[in-house]
Amino acid sequence: MTEKTAKLTLGDLEIDLPVLSPTVGPDVIDITKLYAQGKVFTYDPGFTSTAACDSTITFIDGGKGELLHRGYPIDQLAEKSHYLEVCYLLLYGELPSASELEEFEATITRHTMLHEQMVNFFRGFRRDAHPMAIMVGVVGAMSAFYHDSTDIADERQREIASHRLIAKMPTIAAWAYKYSIGQPFIYPRNDLDYASNFLRMCFSVPAEDYQVNPILSRAMDRIFTLHADHEQNASTSTVRLASSSGANPFACIAAGIACLWGPAHGGANQACLEMLEEIGTVDRIPEFIARAKDKNDPFRLMGFGHRVYKNFDPRAKVMKQSADEVLDLLGIEDNPKLQVAKELEKQALEDPYFAEKKLFPNVDFYSGIILEAMGFPTSMFTPIFALARTVGWISQWKEQISDPKLKIGRPRQLYMGENTREYIDIENR
Ligand code: SDX
Repeated sequence: MTEKTAKLTLGDLEIDLPVLSPTVGPDVIDITKLYAQGKVFTYDPGFTSTAACDSTITFIDGGKGELLHRGYPIDQLAEKSHYLEVCYLLLYGELPSASELEEFEATITRHTMLHEQMVNFFRGFRRDAHPMAIMVGVVGAMSAFYHDSTDIADERQREIASHRLIAKMPTIAAWAYKYSIGQPFIYPRNDLDYASNFLRMCFSVPAEDYQVNPILSRAMDRIFTLHADHEQNASTSTVRLASSSGANPFACIAAGIACLWGPAHGGANQACLEMLEEIGTVDRIPEFIARAKDKNDPFRLMGFGHRVYKNFDPRAKVMKQSADEVLDLLGIEDNPKLQVAKELEKQALEDPYFAEKKLFPNVDFYSGIILEAMGFPTSMFTPIFALARTVGWISQWKEQISDPKLKIGRPRQLYMGENTREYIDIENR
């Protein structure tokens, strides 16, 4: 098959750039040799038109609102699979056999405890520390404890580090929550599934038994599945850039957690509920929709819009079903935030501005509603997103580390500062 090329004309210089074709999605123009040939850079702040890597893990079609994990559509995985099976799929590329799944789940189950010395890290924080600050600190500190899984050149150590991170994130997130409310840490139990274990560590107290509601643990597991991976989003790109320097996996994941914290990214679910609280009552919704449309007002509807999806976020569709199930179970009559959410969704979807800008509710709009209904404080929303996304981060980390083409990520710039100038002694300034 003849190689496709793109011709770039720079003055009287013509450069042929190879065009690479993906399994599915847009072609890419390979510019790796552009600077050597043409002494020019490309310019794309925000990477709206830039592929930073090749990957086989996740594909998103923003126009169609499609999300594939290793080729499987997210709605099928959310309906028929469960989070640990999706973790296996993301890590190893294929759905596991029954014995493979049983072995994987047993491995994860037996890595859920933290080194007891790590309890001191939690106690070093103020009680009102944001749980994301605790997660960044404790996950980064894991590199000081698990030396036998920090050698990134050793495939088995990479695998152990991956298992440890997936297994320990629920314990770290739950303990960050318990610490913030002054309750004792609840240890994981090996007889519970992943989502039930997390809910019990969050909501159980030593004074009485805690029975996990199967509808809530199913909804929790679905939230984990729907947040597992999302190709080269900001936090995953952060993990890839950190790992390109050879940093250990725990440090790379801590960097991803820090990036996810931002309200434009994983912090949107918390920002969305805080926005619902600010709106307060259904009759104030038009005022906020008007603000979201006002070019002079920086206000945006949190939980709406997406860099890639210019159609409904397919995760949001599934999440909306879970939200309806949980709200039916728990009821929203006495929760004004959830009543405002329902009416805001209706009005925004009917408003021509949002249709024209292709601004639909995203995954964060509905996940915040479910987590609020389950009784989580808004400060725990992004830690739960980080917990779920760890498998995506670490799968992309593993893929990059084992790529023989790996080079340290080192973007260039369009320099608009001062040209060379002489130093001026202070007496002459
Ligand atoms: C996540 O990348 C991922 O995959 C992320 C994620 C993942 O799984 O990793 O999906 C998770 O981060 C979901 C997004 C969560 N963020 C929010 O809900 C915050 C609110 N959303 C916006 O901040 C915004 O939509 C972004 C950041 C999500 C996307 O921003 P873009 O693609 O850079 O879009 P843009 O800023 O260029 O906006 C395009 C237009 C603008 O109007 P014009 O300048 O063209 O006139 O749409 C407007 C924006 O003003 N717009 C909004 C809006 N989002 C965009 N107007 C009102 N409310 C909004 N929410």
